[in-house]
Amino acid sequence: MYQNNLSYVQLQAIEKQGASAFYFLDMEKLKSNYQQLHQAFSNEYENCQIAYSFKTNYAPMICDLLKSLGCWAEVVSAMEYDIATQVVGYDPQQIIVNGPLHEAEFIERLLLEGALINADAWYILDEIAKICGKYPKQQFQIGVRLSYNIKEGVFSRFGINSTQQNLQRLSDWQTIVGNCEIIGFHSHFSNSSRSLNCFDSRVSGLLIASECYFEKKAPQFINIGGGFFGDMPTSLANQYGKNLPNFIDYAKQICNNIKKRFVTKKLPKLLLEPGTALVANAMVFVCKVYEVKQIEGKTIALVNGSNHNVNHKWQGESLPIEILRQNPDQASNSDSACFDIVANTCIEKDVLCTDVSGSIRAGDYIVFQYMGGYSNVLKQPFIHPCQAIYAIQNEQLVVVKRQETATDILASYTCKEIATEASSPNEKTNN
Ligand SMILES: Cc1ncc(COP(=O)(O)O)c(C=O)c1O
Repeated sequence: MYQNNLSYVQLQAIEKQGASAFYFLDMEKLKSNYQQLHQAFSNEYENCQIAYSFKTNYAPMICDLLKSLGCWAEVVSAMEYDIATQVVGYDPQQIIVNGPLHEAEFIERLLLEGALINADAWYILDEIAKICGKYPKQQFQIGVRLSYNIKEGVFSRFGINSTQQNLQRLSDWQTIVGNCEIIGFHSHFSNSSRSLNCFDSRVSGLLIASECYFEKKAPQFINIGGGFFGDMPTSLANQYGKNLPNFIDYAKQICNNIKKRFVTKKLPKLLLEPGTALVANAMVFVCKVYEVKQIEGKTIALVNGSNHNVNHKWQGESLPIEILRQNPDQASNSDSACFDIVANTCIEKDVLCTDVSGSIRAGDYIVFQYMGGYSNVLKQPFIHPCQAIYAIQNEQLVVVKRQETATDILASYTCKEIATEASSPNEKTNN
């Protein structure tokens, strides 16, 4: 089960490195998440491959570790592709590229370098057709992202709607573009669709489209995206319901569904793109209480963190927190019955948690658990730059990302004149 092993003394020791607010990454947890997910799926399905969703948290130390374990990369932009190839050192053939919007030059680069792009829209297929015309002697392969109705009413704006008409249009595209083969379908539905029930219909949607499109052949892959529940603190799990599926439940359900449909055909490669399930429980955000005050009968704990650190992609859940007290003996129910945790920004609404029960004092640390996904990558440098990330590696404290400075934040601001063909407003008037 999930455990937060940090003690007050350990947090104090990390604070001595510079600041009392920081992220802490548990590399062992990350490794075991990957190994458990991989084991669960490979027990059921030999030809499967996990590709880590970089957008969830592209800290290079995370990506390096996952790569070393055999995990591929799933990226959604040229920036993430550059991180995957140039920083983490991925071979493009181990990179899946999704995303709704890409420039023509990037698409050309992906095709030429051999990354697997899943076309998300017709304009991407048009670009691919043009690029194929430019390189008639080369043979390319792509996937297509589909969108369709799934159980529990989840809707996705991404991909091409998987209707008969659109599958026919894809076949027509394929006939015209002879040197690029559509080899598989992809879908991903986010947050609210992590149940087994949803996954059943997610997979069925891909299988039905594959049967219709590939007919007697089998696709080379089926890509079911991400969106799995992983191990999480009980207080959070309870908010999602009873008996949440674990990796083994997902693997059995998904793989049996696929195997049933391919009894007489070669099984396609099964691709998975988890983000949250691999990293969320492997990182916490730690901040310190600077003051506890009363305003109009409300108890307010001011911390050196903000919603920008912790509150992305949540859908109204109470965040799982743990309080590590400076003086555990002094904590008593008489201090306060419940309190709000408020941020270090000047935004009135920047309240991290409301109505937390128990007592709180200045000097206590608040540890926000389950903060590995969509936290530091979405943190704006609003008022305060992003905090450092630390981890323990080989029993040694390491800085995964140093605390940002004003210089980091201003590095891309300039005041350089640029020569353009467009005339200035004054010249326009004179003409
Ligand atoms: C295409 C795609 N794959 C995978 C993921 C990862 O999802 P999760 O973090 O829920 O596993 C996302 C997240 O938005 C996504 O858009």
